[in-house]
Amino acid sequence: MRELKDLQQIFRDRFPDTGLKEGAFFAPGRVNLIGEHTDYNDGFVLPMAIEKKICMLAQLRDDREIRAYSLDFDKEVVFSLLDLEFDSENMWVNYLKGVMDEIQKMDYYISGMNILFTGDIPKGAGLSSSAALEVAAAYTIDTLNELDIKPVEMALLCQRAENKFVGVNCGIMDQYISRLGKKDNALMIDCRTNEYELVPLANEDYRIVICNSMVERGLVDSEYNKRREECEKAVEFFRDTLNHRVEALRDVSIEELEEKGGELGGITLRRARHVITENNRVLVAVSALRNNDLETFGKLMTESHLSLRGDYEVSCKELDILVELALKQRGVLGSRMTGAGFRGCTVSLVHRDNVSEFIENVKKAYYQETGIEMEAYVTTPADGAGEI
Ligand code: GLA
Repeated sequence: MRELKDLQQIFRDRFPDTGLKEGAFFAPGRVNLIGEHTDYNDGFVLPMAIEKKICMLAQLRDDREIRAYSLDFDKEVVFSLLDLEFDSENMWVNYLKGVMDEIQKMDYYISGMNILFTGDIPKGAGLSSSAALEVAAAYTIDTLNELDIKPVEMALLCQRAENKFVGVNCGIMDQYISRLGKKDNALMIDCRTNEYELVPLANEDYRIVICNSMVERGLVDSEYNKRREECEKAVEFFRDTLNHRVEALRDVSIEELEEKGGELGGITLRRARHVITENNRVLVAVSALRNNDLETFGKLMTESHLSLRGDYEVSCKELDILVELALKQRGVLGSRMTGAGFRGCTVSLVHRDNVSEFIENVKKAYYQETGIEMEAYVTTPADGAGEI
């Protein structure tokens, strides 16, 4: 990523100084440690923000025009805040427009802006580059227009931007952690109440290693929506079957699943089983982390992977190979796919003394098996969005 002063220079060369309020902001990507496909089931997740991020420089204008320049695509797009329409040519613009649209729908008045942004979060890798772009835009607009939008409200409006404007039916996890992440901590988010608990990743001996499978496929959105529908079907069944209130799979216990799940059968049972057991794994994982019991934490990560692979069926050959290879290495306590699945990354818990050989060995073996060069990122938990 370029230095701030270089970015400021590029900004000044491109846009004339309006003399109005300006600033530089960032929002990070994320990796989810455990709690996958639980957020849209009102469940629990445990992500952390990573050091890779989007940086956004902006200055207010005295009209309602937006001039947005993507440094990475080397492309400038101009539009009016009074006329926000989907841009099928420049997909990235829709994240900005969606956020602006949602903020305006909340009845805030916002001024036009000149914007430049750049980032180092790999796209389509399941590390939430889109959520980071949304949150960076919301944070920039909020600060420069002095709107004072509360952090959770901001995460929610970014999620609505993605759901409604961009048209991706995601849950709240990615925007939430990009806005509220805290250095040295993972966040356990309760996706029903939208409250969170900080969970320190305090053990100096272990590192979080992300392996990028470098697989790109388009399947994700349609399969994601299918899983959401299957969960809805399971909710309907349990709502009719159990004699208490069931609004989401969050409300079904493992015992109830074991007792009644048989009647549900087939695919729907397996989808429900993943979500219900995964929620439980998050809670156990959080208390393991609090007790500095990383062995248990690692085991739960691996169990999560098996459940995502077998019951939820959102893994793929490459992610399975990466997990399998990871688990064969020295100093590894656990490994799993992370994010929506079908492509993207795995996350592994690796002893710091073994990190270099881990990366070297997995890279080599992955290449031998798939012919693909993977990338690895070692990261500690970073802060959520802020001013640079
Ligand atoms: C994507 C979505 C999140 C979440 C994960 C799966 O990253 O954006 O809301 O559902 O998939 O856990």
